[in-house]
Amino acid sequence: INLAVFASGTGSNFDAIMHAIEEGELEARVALLVCDRIGAPVIEKAQSYEIDTVVYNPKVFENKAAYETALLADCHERDIDYIILAGFMRLIGPTLLQAYEERIVNIHPSLLPAFPGKDAIGQALEKKVKVTGVTVHLVDDGMDTGPIIAQEAVAIEEQDTSEKVKQKIQAVEHRLYPQVIQSLFTKEESV
Ligand code: GRF
Repeated sequence: INLAVFASGTGSNFDAIMHAIEEGELEARVALLVCDRIGAPVIEKAQSYEIDTVVYNPKVFENKAAYETALLADCHERDIDYIILAGFMRLIGPTLLQAYEERIVNIHPSLLPAFPGKDAIGQALEKKVKVTGVTVHLVDDGMDTGPIIAQEAVAIEEQDTSEKVKQKIQAVEHRLYPQVIQSLFTKEESV
């Protein structure tokens, strides 16, 4: 199984996926990293694992379809089976959605449908909720709206700083995401 990871930022989930592969917990290969932000730390991480990396500034393309057509060619070239969004700060459009129907997965730091979009942890703190969490879902044309595959709750204690909540959420993300990705392939085999 060939994965393409799409990321815009730090890449801690990318790292967790790589680690799970090295440990034999995730039976797949990351054949491509796609990044939309020049200089993002995830690029160096991918290079340290010697993973093919494409970094395009979406603004240099005429429109979203042209950008995604380029990404699609990169994915096809490497026989990508699944696209794994890991902090990719961009909505996926029809070009990729049609080509990878039900094969694009995202992770989001809240219990969706609560707190979609940017700064989900900040939104949760603002509302003073006692429980937030992590959601892994299939990607559709909305923002963090596709069918939910897995969720795990994270408690917010009175004394927790936003940094603390972020740490707790990321610890869950790093364990959950590789497991859920692996479960997608297993499900496919049993059909
Ligand atoms: C994660 O919290 C993920 O849920 C959200 O973006 C963040 C990416 O973090 N979609 P990282 O780049 O994987 O460290």
